[in-house]
Amino acid sequence: MANLSHLFQPIKIRGMELKNRVVMAPMVTNFATEDGAVTQRLIDYLVARAWGGVGLIEVEATYVRPDGKGFRNELGIYKDDLIPGLQELTRLVHEGGAKVAVQLFHAGRQTSPAVTGTQPIAPSPLPDPSSGVVPRELTVDEIMEIEEAFVQAARRAQQAGFDAVEVHGAHGYLVNQFLSPFSNRRTDDYGGHPEGWSRFAVEIVRKIRQAVGESYPILFRMSADEYVPGGLTLAETRAIARYLQDAGVDAISVSAGNYASPGLIIIPTMDLERGIFVPLASGIKEVVSIPVIAVGRLHDPVIADQVIAAGHADMVALGRALLTDPGWVEKAQRGEIDEIRPCISCNQACANYLLEGKSVSCLVNPGVGREREFAITPTQKPKRVVVVGGGPAGLEATLVLAERGHQVTLFEEDPRLGGEFAVAALAPRKEELANALRWFIREVRRSGAEVRLGQRATADEVLKLKPDAVIVATGSRPKMPAIPGLMREKAMVARDVLMGRAMPGKHVLVAGGGAVGILTAEHLGLMDKEVTVLELTESVGGDMTADRRYWVLEDLADHDVGIITEAEISRVSDAGVHITHDGHEETIGPIDSVVLALGYEPTRTLADELQGKVPELYTIGDAVEPRSAVEAIREAAEVAYRI
Ligand SMILES: Cc1cc2nc3c(=O)[nH]c(=O)nc-3n(C[C@H](O)[C@H](O)[C@H](O)COP(=O)(O)O)c2cc1C
Ligand code: SF4
Repeated sequence: MANLSHLFQPIKIRGMELKNRVVMAPMVTNFATEDGAVTQRLIDYLVARAWGGVGLIEVEATYVRPDGKGFRNELGIYKDDLIPGLQELTRLVHEGGAKVAVQLFHAGRQTSPAVTGTQPIAPSPLPDPSSGVVPRELTVDEIMEIEEAFVQAARRAQQAGFDAVEVHGAHGYLVNQFLSPFSNRRTDDYGGHPEGWSRFAVEIVRKIRQAVGESYPILFRMSADEYVPGGLTLAETRAIARYLQDAGVDAISVSAGNYASPGLIIIPTMDLERGIFVPLASGIKEVVSIPVIAVGRLHDPVIADQVIAAGHADMVALGRALLTDPGWVEKAQRGEIDEIRPCISCNQACANYLLEGKSVSCLVNPGVGREREFAITPTQKPKRVVVVGGGPAGLEATLVLAERGHQVTLFEEDPRLGGEFAVAALAPRKEELANALRWFIREVRRSGAEVRLGQRATADEVLKLKPDAVIVATGSRPKMPAIPGLMREKAMVARDVLMGRAMPGKHVLVAGGGAVGILTAEHLGLMDKEVTVLELTESVGGDMTADRRYWVLEDLADHDVGIITEAEISRVSDAGVHITHDGHEETIGPIDSVVLALGYEPTRTLADELQGKVPELYTIGDAVEPRSAVEAIREAAEVAYRI
């Protein structure tokens, strides 16, 4: 059993005693009402994490004034009417055994008139890096008013029973905008030099201290490196950390990045190393005497413990790992690390849902924000259920059904479970998917479901089991368009290449520049193949999230992978591969192999055959229509909780 003793040592932040060193990182959920009030959904979500053993819950970025709102259904703390809801939230989180802080937030320029109904404000009139909207420069009087809004918000937090407040000074939002020469070009007292850039943050902290008294903890979150030209680096943020400590801050949470940083580095994807920001936390810890909190891909309890053991930080914050598994802390404490439902750092249903204006969910755990609906409750009527297909959707359905007490038989025609997940896990830097798959397989095995591997489920076979319900999760198969002249020996599908079932020659043309195509190209690039990707639309990776796409494209460039857009193969001849590009035919070659990544089509023969022959029949996931694993797993859970 791994020794995780450092994670579970108590710690004190000013007057606040924490039972362990694990903090739930603040994460906007979009679970609040449009005017920022607490909802039952938000409470249920937070309370589940409190009961899961985390020492301190940092409630999401919570706006201190309506013009500082960053997301449509973000939590607010800008008026006294919001206090009763917040009081209920803190009462119930406390019942779960955690301490709870709230993150005080103003978006500054990093919001939009569509969310706030007004022109964004900022230290300087420089366009917002995402929307391009130019904010209005704040006057000194207005700066005072905003400082007062932070103070009033802190007073409300204290009144609502929060154990601490955290000033959100990171990620390019208003306080960070003042701190950084990247966004602050003022020439008055609030800009010009390190002390000027820090003045707004320092004044907020000092004024909050006056309002909340000596014993109330004030935390501060900063981006210790913004990773943008002309932005903050550790050299500057070490000085800022000292100013903040002198001003009365009791702990510093060390994050990184803003909205202009490459590949949404604030929330690092699986493409970046684990513990990526730990050196920054360590750099800040060297210059302050107050506790420092590290964050960023610390999902593995052993790594998290080592961060504290090595003295890089005093505490660790977990964001996404607590979305996938609210019980992370309890499981780690019991030494049941393998039972933690792993976050794969895909950002697909958490960060990217948020950026699309939706409320957060999770690819691996569709129960995020649906804690009541998706609580495992034993069924009153155990049924015999057959699940066909052992991909992500089939695995999730099997797991939930078996845990609820149904008698489940899972068929998978391959000799191993995993379906598309198993294939995707073989692409470069997708090892995190393999972890998730291992978890699903282990949990399905433990659940008592019968698993029939290497067995194709025909309709007769399924009917022989006299099932009360059948779930068809047979997934999809690659499309194989007929290309004139393309011989079998030259053509192969991306799925087979990733699985090692087919090996292309030296010069490879990948037809199709969606996620599967470019990840396969990346895989081949790493094998020193000479690869060209051909894509019909005007850009590759159009079905990927922008953050992951950024890192994959960077890797393709590193491996000299050629990309031709607005082009398709018209035919193949001895002279090479003929493509139509910009309305002209061109020939590219020599090409030894053509790898087809031209999309998928549903496999639903079985569903058609079973229609009307079983009491309940459900088709889920890619067998309905090829989509992302997020939809497939969510549908699986919805059906499995309904049966
Ligand atoms: C959906 C989502 C919302 C987030 N919202 C906030 C926020 O409100 N305030 C904040 O400081 N950081 C926010 N973050 C960043 C996280 O607090 C955390 O720093 C980041 O996810 C990296 O940690 P992790 O690798 O443990 O997820 C958010 C992250 C996610 C995924
Ligand atoms: S959606 Fe992906 S990154 Fe986000 S919490 Fe779930 S598994 Fe982790």
